[in-house]
Amino acid sequence: MTRIAVIGGGKIGTALIGGLIDGGHAPDRVSVADPAQEAIARLRGDFGVVAAEDAPHAVENADVVFLCVKPHQVVGVLEEIADTLDDSDGNPVVVSMAAGITLATLEPAVGAGTPVVRVMPNTPMLVGRGVAAIAPGRYATAEVLDLVAGLLEQVGVVERVTEAQLDAVTAISGSGPAYFFQFVEAMCDGGVSLGLTREQSLRLAAETMAGAAEMLSRPGADPVRLRADVSSPGGTTVHATRALDEAGLRGAVYAAMQACHDRSAQLGRAD
Ligand SMILES: NC(=O)c1ccc[n+]([C@@H]2O[C@H](COP(=O)([O-])OP(=O)(O)OC[C@H]3O[C@@H](n4cnc5c(N)ncnc54)[C@H](OP(=O)(O)O)[C@@H]3O)[C@@H](O)[C@H]2O)c1
Repeated sequence: MTRIAVIGGGKIGTALIGGLIDGGHAPDRVSVADPAQEAIARLRGDFGVVAAEDAPHAVENADVVFLCVKPHQVVGVLEEIADTLDDSDGNPVVVSMAAGITLATLEPAVGAGTPVVRVMPNTPMLVGRGVAAIAPGRYATAEVLDLVAGLLEQVGVVERVTEAQLDAVTAISGSGPAYFFQFVEAMCDGGVSLGLTREQSLRLAAETMAGAAEMLSRPGADPVRLRADVSSPGGTTVHATRALDEAGLRGAVYAAMQACHDRSAQLGRAD
């Protein structure tokens, strides 16, 4: 079974480990490093994974190394582990989950020939419903990409893209969960303003979103058709969706996604 190192036991590292273990990966084949001892103790307690002393110890003998640290920490971590990767018997693949850090930065920071893959994940990975877009570096063969995709498929769906598309991916699925949380938060405020309790509003809004998402995930589902189906002439729903359009919902979504895309591109240029 593939030996995995996870560097960084924060939100994304925890989501990845949880999904891999739930998906049947053997805990003794997953080692994790994080400076926070509490984070390591929690991951060992919750999932039985191996707690490494530091990043170089975690990557010893690993086949796949997931970098789950903040973007500004990635190069430092690569410098820490470069020698251990070089000394490795195999040719481990380095998988960066960091927003905005380009292959042009990642590849020179590891030894020549080391395969690198960039991933844009999202946090629903924690519940096995993540979306991960993967873009290969120059040494990442089809076989390497299949290996990485196979692991990430244990925590959600995988979309293969080019590196140039990753800023757009960040704007839709990377940051997307936050848009939906914000929308539900607004619906809760709306429910309270109409006389429901906050708890009732949250339950109704969240379950509505989960059910609608389930309908959208069926093969051939089309949001235009689904909305038309629930919009009877002169009815309540069409009055609501018209009000959303008049308030500028579409414009707000375009602007939010453009802002996200541009910030991701800016982070990439600055790295
Ligand atoms: N969260 C999201 O929704 C999301 C979505 C898409 C992509 N991402 C990407 O995923 C990556 C991780 O994000 P996150 O939200 O999981 O961050 P996070 O919660 O801050 O976790 C990062 C962890 O890495 C640890 N770390 C720092 N330096 C280390 C080192 N040398 N060795 C081992 N561990 C080290 C950090 O410890 P300290 O706190 O002590 O520094 C922290 O616990 C980011 O690059 C981000 O761009 C996140």
